[in-house]
Amino acid sequence: MSVKSIRVLRLGQRYVRDERTLTHLCLVSRALGAECIYLEDAENDVTATLDEVNKTWGGDFHAILGAPWRGVIREAKKEGRSVVHLTMYGMPIQDVIHDLRSLEKYLIVIGGPKVPGKVYHEADFNVAVTSQPHSEVAALAIMLHEVQGGEELKRTFSQSRLRILPSARGKRVVEN
Ligand SMILES: C[S@@+](CC[C@H](N)C(=O)[O-])C[C@H]1O[C@@H](n2cnc3c(N)ncnc32)[C@H](O)[C@@H]1O
Repeated sequence: MSVKSIRVLRLGQRYVRDERTLTHLCLVSRALGAECIYLEDAENDVTATLDEVNKTWGGDFHAILGAPWRGVIREAKKEGRSVVHLTMYGMPIQDVIHDLRSLEKYLIVIGGPKVPGKVYHEADFNVAVTSQPHSEVAALAIMLHEVQGGEELKRTFSQSRLRILPSARGKRVVEN
C-alpha cells in the first residue's frame, strides 16, 4: 500500500471548550500518520504541546488554528483530497473501506458539539464507525487505521530526542 497523505479537520468548538479532547485528537492524528490537523477554534497551548511532543518524539505534525471549515474543505478539494466526514449517520465503514483505501489524499472531518448540515453535502463520503454515538477520538483512530491498512503502525518519526526500545517488560528509552 502506498504512503497516504492525510489531513484532519476538527469542526467548531466555539461554545463548548474541551481542550483535553482537542489534545487527544492531535495526538491520535500525529501517532497514526496524519500530517496536520485544522482546528477552527483552539488555544495556542495546543500548538505548544505539539511542539514539545515533536521535539521529544520526532516528526513535524502540526496544528493549524483558526481556519474556517469551508475554506479548508474548498482547498482540500482543489488539491485532489477526498473529503471523508465521520458521522454515525453515514455509510458503515466496512461497506466503503475498499473504495476509501484506493485513494491517496484525504481530508478526514470530525465534528464537534454541533455539525453544520452543509458538511454532509460537501463531503465526498459520510462514514460511520458503527451506527451508534461514540467518541470522536475513537472514530478518528479507527478511520486512520482502516484507510492505511495498519501501515501507520510501522511508521518512524524523524529527528526525535528520545526513542523507545520496545520491551516486553519495563521501560527502555534511549537518547538519539
Ligand atoms: C460526540 S459527537 C457529537 C455529534 C453532534 N451531536 C452532531 O451534531 O452531530 C462528535 C463527533 O464524533 C464523531 N462520531 C461520533 N460517533 C460516531 C460514529 N458512530 N461514527 C463516526 N463518527 C462518529 C463525529 O465526527 C461527530 O461529529
